[in-house]
Amino acid sequence: MPEPTKISETVSINIDGQSYELPVVTGTYEEKGIDITKLRSQTKYVTLDTGYKNTGATKSSITYIDGENGVLLHRGYPIEQLAEHAEFLEICYLLFIGELPNKEQLDNFKAEIKAHMGLPENVKHILNALPDETHPMGMLSTVLSAMTGFFPDSLDSWTDEKVRWASIYRLLANMPVLAAYIYRRQKKLDYIDPDPSLSYVGNFLNMTFGNQDEKVAEALDTLLILHADHEQNCSASTARFVGSSHVNLFAAIAAANNALWGPLHGGANQKVLEMLQGIQDDGGDVAKYINKAKDKADPFRLMGFGHRVYKNYDPRAKVIKKYVQVVLDQLNIDDPMVEIAKGLENAALEDEYFSSRKLFPNVDFYSGIIYRALGIPVNMFTVMFALGRLPGWMAQWKEMREGKEPIGRPRQIYTGYTKRDYIDIESR
Ligand code: CMC
Repeated sequence: MPEPTKISETVSINIDGQSYELPVVTGTYEEKGIDITKLRSQTKYVTLDTGYKNTGATKSSITYIDGENGVLLHRGYPIEQLAEHAEFLEICYLLFIGELPNKEQLDNFKAEIKAHMGLPENVKHILNALPDETHPMGMLSTVLSAMTGFFPDSLDSWTDEKVRWASIYRLLANMPVLAAYIYRRQKKLDYIDPDPSLSYVGNFLNMTFGNQDEKVAEALDTLLILHADHEQNCSASTARFVGSSHVNLFAAIAAANNALWGPLHGGANQKVLEMLQGIQDDGGDVAKYINKAKDKADPFRLMGFGHRVYKNYDPRAKVIKKYVQVVLDQLNIDDPMVEIAKGLENAALEDEYFSSRKLFPNVDFYSGIIYRALGIPVNMFTVMFALGRLPGWMAQWKEMREGKEPIGRPRQIYTGYTKRDYIDIESR
């Protein structure tokens, strides 16, 4: 186990001529955080950091990112090695428990997942009752919230450790079921029930397409690994924040799923494909779209580019880019979108606007091309992201729970009116 966080130094802050000492917390890689928890009680000052661009919201031992150097580690293991050698359920175990499982531990873990697989018929009725136009992410959040109804003991997932684990297993086991049901609901196809004898990804493919191709399953397993966790991103922070009110796990995960939906976060993978399609339909003029992205008067952004933490090539995007050609070759697909994506990437990487702002392709830039090749509809791409990210959300929630973190409740700097008297409606 790594050393616990060190509190070995202080910094002083000078306010109104008085000096205050603030403790400095140092992480495994010597990252420094000034602990300001007592700042307000001592000085009446708070810190202001809209979008939490420079705020460490928690201490975590799950995932490490060095954004300047494009490094991503889960429990210390580099993502490149995990993507090449591990399987998705091993990564789930690693994220929850902190160590890679041995064979017996992994077998037991898989047995628990299989034992918790299966949903009541009412899930299908809920999906059927939703309007045909419902976005797949809206469907997913609806059924995730409804899970408390199917498993009422989950309301105790905060207080009861046994229920907590049962809820974790239920979600892990049934997220592929929900994703596959949503696919079939959209296409108005009969539902295919889970088959616990199949592999995790094989089962998802079978429930979705009615068959499972080994090579496709391998590619999808790797994509899930690449999405499994990414420290304090918007949706994981949501899982922790919402969870900090002691709400049940299913509610916290439904909230995280909604946070993922936005185009600046997991919804970017859908937007990338729509952007590439738009460029192709418009004649494939990459330079035109680079210029649009640079034009501050134009709301267009190069989707799949840029990242809050990475100021270098996203290591997940590197792995996915390598996989694109492998998957297309395996499936005998020639997708013109690949050339447009590569052209766009090359043009952006050579452009001063993007290089000076350190904007590189992120995980969403190439993932959509693979999902498309696998036969996943574009508006379901973010559901696929959620399928991969689920263990990260649950590991972050579990860590927050076990660390007994206080309820998330930021302060603000109030900029509204000072106190004024109510005006009768006739006098306004
Ligand atoms: N296209 C054009 N300009 C961009 C882009 C982009 N994709 N991303 C950032 N910029 C510019 C931005 O206009 C700003 O310029 P200036 O300094 O002149 O004002 C500068 O780069 C910094 O951008 P920011 O918006 O302040 O950075 P942020 O950290 O708040 O936002 C981001 C990060 C990911 C939301 C943003 O880069 C973005 O909108 N990218 C496109 C959406 C996307 O691909 N999202 C997926 C993120 S990775 C998957 C995940 O974890 O969710």
